[in-house]
Amino acid sequence: MVRGSRGNEELQCRDFASTMVAFHFCMQFSDFQQLCDARASVRAFDHEAVSRKMLDEILACGHTAPSVGNAQPWRFHVVEDPALSARVLDACCYGNFILGGATLVVVTCDRSAKPLDGKILWNPREMEYSCAAALDHVLIAATAAGLGSCCVSLHHGPVHELLGISTKEQIIAGVLIGVPGSDTASVPHERRPLSEVVKRHE
Ligand SMILES: Cc1cc2nc3c(=O)[nH]c(=O)nc-3n(C[C@H](O)[C@H](O)[C@H](O)COP(=O)(O)O)c2cc1C
Repeated sequence: MVRGSRGNEELQCRDFASTMVAFHFCMQFSDFQQLCDARASVRAFDHEAVSRKMLDEILACGHTAPSVGNAQPWRFHVVEDPALSARVLDACCYGNFILGGATLVVVTCDRSAKPLDGKILWNPREMEYSCAAALDHVLIAATAAGLGSCCVSLHHGPVHELLGISTKEQIIAGVLIGVPGSDTASVPHERRPLSEVVKRHE
């Protein structure tokens, strides 16, 4: 255990080391808990746009997600034209969004991506699970950057057509990332009790 400091705050830092990786990780667990608590779906955005640099940094976090066989099958289609974003959002399955200056990123699964470890993929659906992991990394990163975000379920056909996405890529979901609208109320998480979702096998 190594101790570090951030301002006046003392941090407890752990050094993780294995034969493959050695890195220094420095964050209070309570910081991460607060980050998870702070993430909530935002559906109305301010007119202020998010810079390309910020978006790239958020997507780079998505790209650190785990994936089956390290296939990294996610693809991020960043829709930079607001008129096109509005047309893609017309293909959403449900939800009312006030787009403002938010950027729409369509996350797809490239089914032609091969596991980097060369292993046979026993469950092809794990490619989609990997993309869902990347999606969550993006949502959490956007929150950490002080931005609002929301997943958007999309009808597949029209989105492929509007963005010219290859049929090899399966649409996972859209993600809106932007500055939350000033009237966005913070809604407490509505969750089933933990005891309902955690099953212990002793
Ligand atoms: C895969 C996925 C698809 C979603 N699709 C939509 C959607 O189309 N429209 C919408 O308003 N919210 C959508 N959501 C957001 C959920 O409604 C939201 O996560 C859930 O109600 C829990 O609220 P919270 O995100 O604020 O914790 C989606 C979330 C996920 C993970």
